[in-house]
Amino acid sequence: MYNLLKGKRGIISGALDSNSIAWKVAQRCHQEGAIITLTNAPIAMRMGEIKKLSDETKAEVIPADATNVDDLTNLFVKSQEILGGKIDFLLHSIGMSVNIRKNIPYVESNYDYFMKGIDVSAMSLHKMLSVAMKLDAMNEGGSVVALTYMAAQRTYPFYTDMADIKAMLESITRSFGYHYGKSKKVRVNTVSQSPTKTTAGTGIKGFDNFFNFADAIAPLGNATADDCADYCVTLFSDLTKMVTMQNLFHDGGYSTTGVSLDVMEKFDK
Ligand SMILES: NC(=O)c1ccc[n+]([C@@H]2O[C@H](COP(=O)([O-])OP(=O)(O)OC[C@H]3O[C@@H](n4cnc5c(N)ncnc54)[C@H](O)[C@@H]3O)[C@@H](O)[C@H]2O)c1
Repeated sequence: MYNLLKGKRGIISGALDSNSIAWKVAQRCHQEGAIITLTNAPIAMRMGEIKKLSDETKAEVIPADATNVDDLTNLFVKSQEILGGKIDFLLHSIGMSVNIRKNIPYVESNYDYFMKGIDVSAMSLHKMLSVAMKLDAMNEGGSVVALTYMAAQRTYPFYTDMADIKAMLESITRSFGYHYGKSKKVRVNTVSQSPTKTTAGTGIKGFDNFFNFADAIAPLGNATADDCADYCVTLFSDLTKMVTMQNLFHDGGYSTTGVSLDVMEKFDK
């Protein structure tokens, strides 16, 4: 360990179970010397899993529905009280599409579900940032990371409405990143992660095949949740203090590989 986050205070959203990317990020931030609070939707809390992570990382859990501004206000107020000062970093690790859950094809999307997906998975970042700014809850040089997927740039038919929602998430990152950078030098970036075997990931139709496909394309193979946690730690640290408003691919080289020899071999006649 490198003590990269020594003395820093953070908020980590989205740790549902030990497969969650946020779970690994919380563990790594704790190992690197940060003090943190954990948050998730009240409905996810009842599953009890998060208690294990809270014990391990000595982090209090503050329930908050990421679509609810009052909940988010409480999250930032309480986190500052508990951690003893302004927040240095925030992980947005929240994604949910009812259209995906219900297996509804993209062209037949239900619009109420679509709106819900936008609110939970993209607008929630705007709400978090807006609440943090209003409360002046983040330290100068603070860092915000949200997790995204490359379907925001290229078409993945099975990713359905989440592709459009991630495009919005990445746009909010740039738009808010400008304003928060100007006013408080707070950085806002997205990490575009490889397919990862989590509850949200495996809920996508055909996920296993796609996971294997991406792994065969990427020269380094798929990046794991643990790898993602390492990358997030660097982005929360002062070593990346001039990086903002970026969508950063963390995918073993997948996004810039046209085709791999491993995949070509499968088409040998
Ligand atoms: N798993 C993948 O393949 C993959 C790849 C790229 C990006 N991502 C992104 O990573 C992020 C984390 O997902 P994950 O793969 O770790 O899965 P996950 O299912 O473990 O995490 C998703 C989290 O979102 C939370 N959530 C849902 N609705 C919420 C609400 N209203 N308020 C607060 N929290 C809410 C869930 O409780 C859960 O903890 C998501 O944004 C996802 O899109 C995942």
